[in-house]
Amino acid sequence: MKVAVVGATGLVGNVMLEVLAERNFPVTELIPVASEKSVGKTITFKGKDYKVVGMTQAISLKPDVALFSAGGDTSKEWAPKFAQVGTVVVDNSSAWRMDPTKKLVIPEINADVLTPEDKIIANPNCSTIQMLVALSPLRKYGIKRIVVSTYQSITGTGVKAVNQLENEYKGIQGEMAYHYPIHRNAIPHCDVFEENGYTKEEMKLVRETKKIFGDDSIRVTATAVRIPVVGGHSESINVEFEQEYDLSEVRKLLSQAPGVVLQDNTDTNTYPMPIYAHGKDEVFVGRVRRDESQPKTLNLWVVADNLRKGAATNTIQIAETLIKKGILK
Ligand SMILES: NC(=O)c1ccc[n+]([C@@H]2O[C@H](COP(=O)([O-])OP(=O)(O)OC[C@H]3O[C@@H](n4cnc5c(N)ncnc54)[C@H](OP(=O)(O)O)[C@@H]3O)[C@@H](O)[C@H]2O)c1
Repeated sequence: MKVAVVGATGLVGNVMLEVLAERNFPVTELIPVASEKSVGKTITFKGKDYKVVGMTQAISLKPDVALFSAGGDTSKEWAPKFAQVGTVVVDNSSAWRMDPTKKLVIPEINADVLTPEDKIIANPNCSTIQMLVALSPLRKYGIKRIVVSTYQSITGTGVKAVNQLENEYKGIQGEMAYHYPIHRNAIPHCDVFEENGYTKEEMKLVRETKKIFGDDSIRVTATAVRIPVVGGHSESINVEFEQEYDLSEVRKLLSQAPGVVLQDNTDTNTYPMPIYAHGKDEVFVGRVRRDESQPKTLNLWVVADNLRKGAATNTIQIAETLIKKGILK
């Protein structure tokens, strides 16, 4: 299969190449794509060198599938052009997620929505993916309301943010990805502010949850915070159900759920942390406990590598689902 990785020189693109190799995705021809400034650079995939090409050349090669992680504006402009030559695009940016004509997919949850007519498919936001993978097994209780606070890794902001943190460690003045220093700091500001005072990242958690679960009645409120962590995103989730739940059943459901690892034992100080989630594909859940201030309500701590399940792995799982369904050949 001819596979274009658009944004191959970026953080997500790099992990995408790793995950394609690890999962033995059936790549017969790799087309690494980036901006004009990277054209001609060498990318190594499975021990073989490839030259980075620009968008126009990539389209002329008519890839079967293009895995996009090159920002929203790039995707808005170029994804339809790839689709026009018959390429199926799986896009990591926020460009298409809330478009009612595009599917927003987490394979563990709603792989069934994919059809041969889908030419541009959206990968959800990293914070949304890990939250919903953890909450999906508990949907039998009826999810009424979610209150989530995120503790997000700087890798969620791309190469520029990683450089900022490294420069600050070393005391070097350099290009800033954030308005403020990130080293020894917590910045309650991920993505841009919207008119309602929430950030776009916070509103993605609200809007994408309703779309993926197919339930507009679920109430969600979020606070997203950037912290100087490299391994992955963490989330404190408070979820109120329609029905009463049994805590031991909750643990059982979580431990049996696809893509979830339950790490929850206060006797042994066992709980998820980004340093251990780094490089892994699963969503780790711990600190599972009853909210004693309110009935039918549960607290959870959820951690995942935002570059893996939050981006590259989920994208490649979508492509694998298309192969399984015979949509991609
Ligand atoms: N980081 C995460 O946790 C995460 C999670 C989910 C989704 N995403 C999304 O994935 C995308 C990339 O994120 P990232 O963290 O990998 O960013 P990044 O490290 O800054 O990489 C951006 C990539 O996009 C390429 N690019 C930029 N403008 C382009 C253009 N006009 N044409 C072709 N390629 C272009 C860059 O190429 P050059 O090197 O040539 O500039 C680079 O390969 C963003 O849309 C982001 O929202 C990120």
